[in-house]
Amino acid sequence: MKFHVLTLFPDMIIQGLSQSIIGRAAENGLLSIEAVNIRDYTLDTHTKVDDYPYGGGAGMLMQAQPVYDAWKSVIEKIEPGAAANDSGRHPRTVYLTPQGQNFTQELAKELAKEEDLVLLCGHYEGIDERVLEEIVTDYVSIGDYVLTGGELPAMVMIDAIARMVPGVLNNEASGIHESFEGNLLEYPQYSRPEEWHGKRVPDVLLSGNQKNIDAWRREASVCRTRERRPDMYLQYEKLQRCLDYLKEQKLLHMDMIELINRGQARLVYAKKGNICLYDRASGIYFHTAETPEEGRSALHAMNEDAEVNGGVKLFVLHQDFMREQAEELLLAKELMSCYQAVYTRKEKLSITGLYRLDGKKQEGIAEIRPLTMEHMDIVTANYQTVDDADYIRDRIEKGWMFGAFIEGELAGFSGMHTEGGIGMLEVLPQYRGRYIGKALETYMINLSLERGMIPYGQVAEGNEVSRKLQESLGLCFSKTLVYWMEKM
Ligand code: ADE
Repeated sequence: MKFHVLTLFPDMIIQGLSQSIIGRAAENGLLSIEAVNIRDYTLDTHTKVDDYPYGGGAGMLMQAQPVYDAWKSVIEKIEPGAAANDSGRHPRTVYLTPQGQNFTQELAKELAKEEDLVLLCGHYEGIDERVLEEIVTDYVSIGDYVLTGGELPAMVMIDAIARMVPGVLNNEASGIHESFEGNLLEYPQYSRPEEWHGKRVPDVLLSGNQKNIDAWRREASVCRTRERRPDMYLQYEKLQRCLDYLKEQKLLHMDMIELINRGQARLVYAKKGNICLYDRASGIYFHTAETPEEGRSALHAMNEDAEVNGGVKLFVLHQDFMREQAEELLLAKELMSCYQAVYTRKEKLSITGLYRLDGKKQEGIAEIRPLTMEHMDIVTANYQTVDDADYIRDRIEKGWMFGAFIEGELAGFSGMHTEGGIGMLEVLPQYRGRYIGKALETYMINLSLERGMIPYGQVAEGNEVSRKLQESLGLCFSKTLVYWMEKM
C-alpha cells in the first residue's frame, strides 16, 4: 500500500513514521510513505503558500494553487491522466480536518483496501474551499479537538491503516483477533514476575486451564468496559439481549449469533425479535423479523443506516415474508437462497484417514495448509460461486483460505467468508470422489472450534452434494431458508 502525504512539514511525517513496526514494514517494502512538500509547488516568488481570507477573519488560509499542483503531481504519478479526467474519478484523497467524519477502526479497515491513499494536511486556518471541492473524496477527523495541523492526524491514520496491511504485524493471529474486537475492551494482561509491588498475577492465569483463563478474560473485559466505556457497554448489553431472541431459533440465526459472539456486529435496529445487525468485517446487513410490519421498520432502519456509508449493497433476510417488501423498498434482487448448516457439538471431528497434521506422509492422504498468493489463479479459475478476484485475494492474504495437497499438488480448497461462514469449498475435477471435500470441511470445523467459534456454513437450496457432505459430518440444518439480497 502506498501513502502520499501532502504537507508543509514533510520531515515531520517521514521522521514520525520511520521507527518501529511501520518503519520496518516500509523498509521491507510492504508499504511506502511519500511526503510531498506543498511549498515546492507554489508559483509565488517568495515561496508563499498562504494569504488572507476574503471577508476578513483571523489568520491565514492555504491557497488553492500550490495544493492543487502538489496533488496533481502525485495523482499523475499514480495514474497518469487521472487528474485531468473528466469523470472526476481519482485515488481517494483524505483531507484531515476537525470537520470530518470520525476516524474509526471500521474506516481504517476500509481504507486499508486502497492501493494508494492521498492524505492532505492543512495548516493555518485551513485551505481555500475551491481546491477541496475539486480533489477531496473524504473529510476525516481524529477526534473532537483542534490541532495546529493535519500532520499528527495523518500519522495516526497511517499507523492504524498500515497495521491492517497483511504482513505488517507479522503476527499470524492478528487477523483473528481483529474479528473479536469491537464490542468489548481488552482484558488486563500481566507478565513476569508473578509478584510485583506486593501485587500477584491472578491465580487463574497461572493455572494452565485455558477454558478458565478464557472465561476470566471475558469477565474482565465486560467489567472493564462497564467501568471505562459505559457507552460501549450499553451497546454490548443490547446485543446480549438480541442474542436471547436469536437463540430462540438457533439454527436459522446462527450467522447473526456468531456475528455477535465474534464481536463483528454493530446494532442497527432491535425491537424484540425484529433485529438488524451490520457486520463491520464484510459490510453486509443481517435482518430478521417477527412480523412483516415490524420487519419493515427494521428494513427502513437498515436503509437509513447505510445511507451514511454510500448505501446498502448486500443484505441477508431470514424470512420468506420479507422478500417482496425488501425488493420493493430497496430495489433489491435475490442472489441465492440457502439453508444454514450448523455444527452444534463441541467435540472436534476425527481426522483419521482424511488428513494428517503430524507432517508425516501417507499415500493418498491430504496435507492441509494455508494457501498463499501463488495459488490465487488456480483458486479463481476453479471457484464457481464468487466471481470476485479481489475477494479471494483478501481471504488468502488474511490467512482464511486452506488447500488440500496430494503429493504436493493442490487438490481442493476451502475457507472462511468475511462474515464468518465456512465455505468456498471446491475440489478440482481430477481429485473428486477421494474424500478431499470431507477432509477440508472437517479441517475447517475443527479449526473453528479451536478458535472458539461455532462452525456454520450455508448450503444453497438444491445443492444436494453439499448437503450430503454436511449431513455426513453431523451438521444440522435450519428448517427454513435465508435469502441473500443485492441492492441494484
Ligand atoms: N486538523 C486539526 N485538528 C484535527 C483533528 N482533530 N482531526 C483531523 N485533522 C485535524
